[in-house]
Amino acid sequence: MKMTVTINGKPYGPLEVRDELSMNDFLREYLGLTGTKFGCGMAQCLSCAVIVDNPDGTSETSPTCIVPAKSFAGKSIRTIEGHAKDGQLSVLQKAFVEHFSFQCGYCTAGFVNEGQVLLERLAKAPVGRADLDKTIQDALDGHLCRCTGYVKYHEAMRDVIMADPKRYLS
Ligand code: FES
Ligand code: FES
Repeated sequence: MKMTVTINGKPYGPLEVRDELSMNDFLREYLGLTGTKFGCGMAQCLSCAVIVDNPDGTSETSPTCIVPAKSFAGKSIRTIEGHAKDGQLSVLQKAFVEHFSFQCGYCTAGFVNEGQVLLERLAKAPVGRADLDKTIQDALDGHLCRCTGYVKYHEAMRDVIMADPKRYLS
């Protein structure tokens, strides 16, 4: 089939894709967007996760390793390549760097995408301070990191949110 997809605000296609082509291969091999990683290949680590922006204004992450490219046809997604603007890392990316949240960085694109979805969700539906740690934990749950563990990602997210409590906390 021929598919079009919007990635980081830019339209791609129509491009002919085989039915069995994964979204991960489409991004990496067809489009050269290699920031999206391929880890387990079994929807278990989420290093391959991208953001899907839904028509109703909500966003969520999706693995790309086991999901066919064609299922993203007509959708709008964001990948790690879309976070920095004008050569400047996003606030969340900077926080991950400053907290030494990653070492090899293989998992980082997935954490950045998940964390960004959480920030946008909290901006619309803030949570109380008492629920913040569990909210972060629940959001990042499922993302595997074999290097630094999870604490530094968690702390970086908490710092970003606590730095702007009027925006993210009720
Ligand atoms: S590579 Fe997709 S979840 Fe691990
Ligand atoms: S930094 Fe290496 S897997 Fe997370």
